[in-house]
Amino acid sequence: MSGLAIVTGGARGIGAAIVDALLADSVAGHVAALDLDVTGVADRANVSLHACDVTDEEQVRAVVASLDEQATVLVNNAGGGRADPTRTDAVPFDPFGPVGLFRDSVDLNLNSAHVVTRVVGPGMPAGSAICNTASIAGLMPTALFAYGAAKAGLIHWTKSMALALAPRGVRVNAVAPGFIYTKLWEQMATREMFDVMVGGAVPMGTEQTPAQIADAVSFLCSPRAAQVTGQVIAIDGGSLLGRPR
Ligand SMILES: NC(=O)c1ccc[n+]([C@@H]2O[C@H](COP(=O)([O-])OP(=O)(O)OC[C@H]3O[C@@H](n4cnc5c(N)ncnc54)[C@H](O)[C@@H]3O)[C@@H](O)[C@H]2O)c1
Repeated sequence: MSGLAIVTGGARGIGAAIVDALLADSVAGHVAALDLDVTGVADRANVSLHACDVTDEEQVRAVVASLDEQATVLVNNAGGGRADPTRTDAVPFDPFGPVGLFRDSVDLNLNSAHVVTRVVGPGMPAGSAICNTASIAGLMPTALFAYGAAKAGLIHWTKSMALALAPRGVRVNAVAPGFIYTKLWEQMATREMFDVMVGGAVPMGTEQTPAQIADAVSFLCSPRAAQVTGQVIAIDGGSLLGRPR
């Protein structure tokens, strides 16, 4: 395929690896990366960077209207915690945490996918594919209360959308990464804390890489997955299996 892919949160971390994989695998000929923060991100061939808050429909509409063609691939990848250094209550591990923080998390990790898909989806031709970046936190209970609830919602919505868009020939899938020490985790844990957590939670013993997540996304968005829709692929080193008893 040589069409356009839109990748949200495509400036860094897993999103940047998804951009690279879609181009390297020729799943897309060029990519529009929509990201809240594009400062300092190097220019790359066939990639256009767009500063955009994907929770804001007007901003998303303005960027999409500026693109030359309809997207055939959409990756709703932006997510994580809202990094606001002015917030003193921004600790995600409190089961009785503030309402505003819970709403923010649902807005970023679930509602944004609806916002972007609502803008991009109606124009996607048959043969197109959508992939949502969920998390293993959406498939099992964790101490990331709002985030996990939002990702679980994202997974359920992925399946509903797959059913709804199948008659139009548009597929909708999700990936569920496990543990990767990107900015997302840097905001929550030191490298040492993270390594201890991985040692205890990942049967395969190591964290994943952004490229490993991107590989799965690229497959799901490619014609090789033409009969795959409504699925969630966990790339988690076996974390969802639990520990041997
Ligand atoms: N890193 C992990 O261990 C892990 C595990 C499971 C799921 N995930 C998911 O993978 C996705 C990518 O996370 P990552 O680890 O690469 O984190 P990251 O923080 O490195 O990258 C997230 C990107 O999204 C962008 N972004 C954040 N809010 C945005 C907004 N409102 N509008 C537009 N862009 C916005 C950020 O600027 C950043 O470039 C997220 O959905 C995250 O929840 C990550």
